[in-house]
Amino acid sequence: MIRRVALSLVLLPALVAIGAAQTPPANPPPLRLGLGDLMTMLVQPRHTKLGLGGQARNWEYAAYELHELEESFERVERAWPRYRAFSITELLGVTKEPMAAVEAAIKAKDGAKFDAAYRELTQACNACHRGTNRPMVVIQFPAATAPYPDQDFTTPKP
Ligand code: HEC
Repeated sequence: MIRRVALSLVLLPALVAIGAAQTPPANPPPLRLGLGDLMTMLVQPRHTKLGLGGQARNWEYAAYELHELEESFERVERAWPRYRAFSITELLGVTKEPMAAVEAAIKAKDGAKFDAAYRELTQACNACHRGTNRPMVVIQFPAATAPYPDQDFTTPKP
């Protein structure tokens, strides 16, 4: 009997520790997503979908997705105004002109202008990657095999 009590006294702290490890902390520290995370989660899919919508000449969708891409860049800037030695706020300036050109092409429903402006925008992505010591991250015009098999990018039939 005494032995059993002694044993449970020895085990008790270990059991308490296991219990504590399984209970999530009441106030987990806020998660700060990395710049690479935000690029992969927000910027890249929006850039891809904007390209696919534009390829389908679905102007209403392209306008919507361009706005989503703008908002993604705003979130990137809010989370990472600076990244290492670089001012992301300043560097994001390279996207402004191409985005405006994409917007104008969408408004004009001009496919050739859209393609040209979208290529410029894609070059701006890569200019910033080169400028921030990430030249290995190369963005291109999305291939027709782009990875959204569950989404139809053509204009819906009324
Ligand atoms: C203001 C500069 C800047 C602009 C503009 C920019 N990026 Fe980035 N991007 C970065 C930096 C810096 C990294 C590396 C982050 C890291 O390593 O944590 C990165 C990383 C990425 C990655 C992650 C690479 C991987 O394979 O995991 C992707 C994808 C990406 N960018 C896509 C884009 C696309 C698409 C655009 C344009 C629509 C774009 N980026 C525009 C700065 C930029």
